Amino acid sequence: MELSAAQAAVMMFLLSSLILSAVKAAEDFDGASILRRKLQSPVAGLCAQLIEPSGFPCSEHKTQTKDGFILGLQRVSSSSGNLRRQSGPPVLLIHGLFMAGDAWFLDNPNQSLGFILANRGFDVWVGNVRGTRWCHGHVSLSEKDREFWDWSWQDYALYDVREMIRYIYTVTNSRVFVIGHSQGTIISLAALTQPDIVEMVGAAALLCPITYLNHITARLPLRLVKMHLDQVFLAMGIHELNFKSDWCTRIMDMMCDGHVDCGDLLTSVTGKNCCFNSSRIDFYLEYEPHPTSTKNLNHLFQMIREGTFAMYNHGRWKNMWHYGQLKPPKFDLSRIPSSLPLWMGYGGNDALADITDLQHTLKELRSKPDLLYLENYGHLDFLVSTRSKEDVYDRMLAFFNSLEHLAVVTE
Ligand SMILES: *[C@@H]1O[C@H](CO)[C@@H](O)[C@H](O)[C@H]1NC(C)=O
Ligand SMILES: *[C@@H]1O[C@H](CO)[C@@H](O)[C@H](O)[C@H]1NC(C)=O
Repeated sequence: MELSAAQAAVMMFLLSSLILSAVKAAEDFDGASILRRKLQSPVAGLCAQLIEPSGFPCSEHKTQTKDGFILGLQRVSSSSGNLRRQSGPPVLLIHGLFMAGDAWFLDNPNQSLGFILANRGFDVWVGNVRGTRWCHGHVSLSEKDREFWDWSWQDYALYDVREMIRYIYTVTNSRVFVIGHSQGTIISLAALTQPDIVEMVGAAALLCPITYLNHITARLPLRLVKMHLDQVFLAMGIHELNFKSDWCTRIMDMMCDGHVDCGDLLTSVTGKNCCFNSSRIDFYLEYEPHPTSTKNLNHLFQMIREGTFAMYNHGRWKNMWHYGQLKPPKFDLSRIPSSLPLWMGYGGNDALADITDLQHTLKELRSKPDLLYLENYGHLDFLVSTRSKEDVYDRMLAFFNSLEHLAVVTE
């Protein structure tokens, strides 16, 4: 399917407005600081906004990474208040690109994985990486500083995921189960190659698993890679990617208000989702997308161009300085111990987590993960399909239940 002229036009509109809003934010400090206050210190936390209203006890936690970012975590337990149900292991949810912890709670308690896990007795911990609206900034840097945005997904993996797991492991005194979606799987798998992290992890379940990205078929991202949009932004001095700036929000609202089919736009990014409820888009857009750094987009685009699962490529000479070698070091999947139980769910219509790329990942792993293949599933179906409980989550829970000594409630 080619991008329609209308989609291409909308995209150009979006991109130009993104550039304009970033330029505007850089010039207009007053406007920018209001926007930032709104984004960085939401009136209420994720617990109060989205989780407690559904009747689930939830507490906010903060922890600081080694490089000074203050991450927000939420801990959620069963809505039934039945203590016997609270004996399950801690599970950490790691969201994808342009998302945050809210992604696991966007539908009703019978449909959303975060709620389902809590009601099954898991001790649910919700991760939020640096730069998202549920994080609390940095000890010394402000979001106005260029250095605040000077990181990519390898820093999510080596600092944020490491710190979240360490914190949960320390508080609960128990190995942590990790669940990731999309970019959340890139950073989980990268983190699991680190011996000091993997020793605190009991098992991992990965939705739309990604490490290599050179076979993606998603038309819009491929087009942006070809346009070198990442490098254009960096050259323009745009370091923060925030589609929720006032400008972009207005345009997204306009677009999704009958003028353009937002479902089509999503399809060109994620692949065809079988079970996406498009009447919920307005609600989803109240939470998504979250900001990330341009450098992160650049790192992801490098993976698409270069076919590597490696650290950020600074260019040959800067690589020498950063890594002591001309090429960035690879993340070595064979360092993930074969004793770590792994489960993966992937879809035939997923334009981002391509099956060829997944096979590359599987070849490099020492263990044989349990696999669930859903032919008609796209990239978002694993998160917000109207049928994901039956299709995906029940299967994932069966995997967790099959592990030893787990006091998890079965229905
Ligand atoms: C969830 O499922 C239960 C039992 O199947 C039902 O009673 C309840 O109304 C459902 N809740 C929602 C929000 O759909
Ligand atoms: C789709 O979303 C609408 C609006 O939130 C909701 O009323 C409806 O129940 C949803 N359908 C399914 C199958 O979840």
